[in-house]
Amino acid sequence: MTAGDDVLLAVRDLKVHFAVGSGMFGARSTVKAVDGVSFEVRRGSTFGIVGESGSGKSSIALAVMRLLRISNGRVHLGGTEISALEGDALRRERRRFQMVFQDPYASLNPRKRAGDAILDALNLMDVGDPSGRPERARELFLQTGLRPEQLMLFPHQFSGGQRQRIVLARALAARPELVVCDEPVSALDVAIQAQMLNLMLRLQQAFGLTYLFISHDLGVVRHMCDEVAVMYLGRIVERAGRDALFARPLHPYTLALWSAAPSFDPRERGRGRRIRLQGEPPSPVNVPAGCRFAGRCPHAQAQCRAFEPELRERASGHWVACHRVDDHGVPDYPLG
Ligand SMILES: Nc1ncnc2c1ncn2[C@@H]1O[C@H](COP(=O)(O)OP(=O)(O)OP(=O)(O)O)[C@@H](O)[C@H]1O
Ligand code: SF4
Ligand SMILES: [Mg+2]
Repeated sequence: MTAGDDVLLAVRDLKVHFAVGSGMFGARSTVKAVDGVSFEVRRGSTFGIVGESGSGKSSIALAVMRLLRISNGRVHLGGTEISALEGDALRRERRRFQMVFQDPYASLNPRKRAGDAILDALNLMDVGDPSGRPERARELFLQTGLRPEQLMLFPHQFSGGQRQRIVLARALAARPELVVCDEPVSALDVAIQAQMLNLMLRLQQAFGLTYLFISHDLGVVRHMCDEVAVMYLGRIVERAGRDALFARPLHPYTLALWSAAPSFDPRERGRGRRIRLQGEPPSPVNVPAGCRFAGRCPHAQAQCRAFEPELRERASGHWVACHRVDDHGVPDYPLG
């Protein structure tokens, strides 16, 4: 995809590094949680990020939301470089991008009535005329499948799924363009997850929302996303349209993830070939030279440990960072 009017979110060479620890002589090390990530999200679409625990998904979400310090890189929302804003200018833009976190229990103040949580958001972001805000709160409740009389209730009087609807209503209060969703359904019962996801899809249609959607559940990502990026140790190793990525994953790490996914039809998993991932990912404090996946990759060769592979477009819109994926696919796994 090339940058253009239809791109809402553009992330360029994003790095999120944390300085941690202080050794005996004050030595500090650096956690490279996100280490040079670029992607673009089309307006009205859903861009998914998948990857193992610790690969840097939430750090991307929080950096885009300007809730974490960005070490390097730029984030544009429409024509605005939100990574360059501070103070009042940042506060004014915040209504354009909102977030839904994983845990609907931690996201709501237990002592605050649901309606007041919505009103607080409307007041904080100065949405519309103050006298119209109670009506707007009612409208948001209806839009998210809650009943207006429930505005008077406290969080503990709702189920987990209903709480996440309140969180969604609050995120939508200021009519944002982008909603960053970090594991929005993984705390919910499986039976409730589909209702929440379908509500999110309906709201996306109704309001032209753009989602940055993080999940470790490949079935959920496949249901929700138009494009998907696969993260490994702070980098995107593969990025493609949903159908291409699920039908024809190219990076050895993606193949391993797919083949381990219990939610997939066994005939589809890694195209019938099981690839067992050995060991844990390396620590983002000691990022290995060369390809970060080399220590666990069944195809690794000497060149893999010497040079870090760049993301390259191998088929239209299908980007892969692997020395051994050429235009014919990975060894033993031809394109076609
Ligand atoms: N505030 C912090 N200080 C130091 N290290 C951090 C901090 N936040 C995250 N990290 C580290 O950065 C790396 C990426 O973490 P992140 O939470 O972004 O991963 P994730 O992909 O969201 O994982 P999960 O699937 O478990 O939510 C991890 O090694 C994590 O320990
Ligand atoms: S570059 Fe080498 S080690 Fe890395 S994924 Fe490709 S084949 Fe495996
Ligand atoms: Mg996370």
